Amino acid sequence: MSFFICSTCGFGSATFLGKCPDCGEWNTLKQARGMDEKSDRKSSKTSEFVTTKLKEIQVVKGKGERYATGIHEFDRVLGGGFVPGHVALLTGEPGIGKSTLLLQALQHIDTLYISGEESASQIKDRADRLGVSLEHMAFSDTLQVEGIVAGISSLRGSAEGGDSLPRHVGVAISPGSRVKPGMTAGSAPHLIVIDSIQMLYSKSVEGTPGSVSQLRECALQLVRMAKEKHIAMIFIGHVTKDGDIAGPKIVEHMVDTVLSFEGEKISHFRVMRANKNRFGSTDEIGIFEMSGEGLKEVTNPLAFVQEVDTKGATPGRAIAGVLEGKRPIFFEIQSLASPTSLAMPRRVVNGVDYNKVQLLLAVIRKHLHLPLDGYDIYVNVIGGIKVESPAADLAIIASIISSVKEITLPPKSLFTGEVGLLGEVRKGYGLEKVVSEAKRIGLTEVYSPTTVKHVKDLLQSLK
Ligand code: TYD
Ligand code: MG
Repeated sequence: MSFFICSTCGFGSATFLGKCPDCGEWNTLKQARGMDEKSDRKSSKTSEFVTTKLKEIQVVKGKGERYATGIHEFDRVLGGGFVPGHVALLTGEPGIGKSTLLLQALQHIDTLYISGEESASQIKDRADRLGVSLEHMAFSDTLQVEGIVAGISSLRGSAEGGDSLPRHVGVAISPGSRVKPGMTAGSAPHLIVIDSIQMLYSKSVEGTPGSVSQLRECALQLVRMAKEKHIAMIFIGHVTKDGDIAGPKIVEHMVDTVLSFEGEKISHFRVMRANKNRFGSTDEIGIFEMSGEGLKEVTNPLAFVQEVDTKGATPGRAIAGVLEGKRPIFFEIQSLASPTSLAMPRRVVNGVDYNKVQLLLAVIRKHLHLPLDGYDIYVNVIGGIKVESPAADLAIIASIISSVKEITLPPKSLFTGEVGLLGEVRKGYGLEKVVSEAKRIGLTEVYSPTTVKHVKDLLQSLK
């Protein structure tokens, strides 16, 4: 049977089409290799079936070492740093700070920075401005994946791989300096950055750089090299706000770690999350602040909360406490309930899940009998940060009640707890840690499942 695949978007069709009905490109449908009858018959050789006794496998541990970046917020998300052969995908919207972060984070690791986005002199200029040392960084603008693989293989210390880990990159970055295939420019790097994976191309497949077939082939060749030569790799992948259609998604299953770097461009806070991590946990987050001197680590648990005194406090503001990984973090949730005459009142939500807010509004309507239909309701998390933990439920409800009933919540109060459909307030994971940290930093009035068992109790205690 014949099968045709669009080399741009990956659309599949049993018949040949001149124009792809999915992405609208012309002449992009190609017959899938190995799927036509003729080649099936030709390759009549059966693959040899080999099994291995797992018990007898010698594990090459690379001395159990990790390349720590020294930036704690980054290392924590990674699980302690990069492991030799570790392949990570770093995704984020263009301009969010991915290149800046890597430049700052990798300055102490022997790194080869392959960029199709910026020239060597642009990177050098940025590094100089940020005070980043380029002693351990080499640069290449080779974007053909076969060229990169051949170039790395020709470097000292790269052929044998295994436990003899490569030592130094011999070329420091300077405008025009390159690691050319066939040139023994020095030793293989410990880590390679690909900025971005959408810019690479392979000569062996059709399609423009960034297309499904190109992304898959380039990632495959590089992952194979990373594993064989024990070189860590970071692929940068751009995504749009709605999560690019084909984009870096197809690379996700090929890599060990998927990191996302997010934040609103108008806000200076950036959060790094691991959505997948074969070498660490996925519930740690790293918090950064974009400044004039690049990205700075944020360690203050109250960074997202604006300081207000009793006089400055207005209805609608509640502080949520949640546990992110092992660390308690506090967010400021603001709600605005404004009287409306719309038949379908407006609900605008930013920073928390829209459906979660709809659900909490239903809980408030059912159990507290508040006249929500008469209000447009806006819910926002300050700092352009996304809060995913259900422990923020109680604070969201408190801020909505506060705005609807025009009750100002005490400025030093904290709300933490998950709210169920029956209105019950439930104890989430790590409650004690959040409460003790809240007390330590001066949030003295704590509303938690220990003090409020049901949203009715909350309404009572706020009156
Ligand atoms: P960049 O790292 O180039 O983003 P990405 O690689 O994700 O596309 O970051 C670019 C943005 O960061 C740009 O809008 C300017 C801002 N920025 C600062 O605010 N301060 C700095 O010190 C630097 C280097 C960049
Ligand atoms: Mg960039």
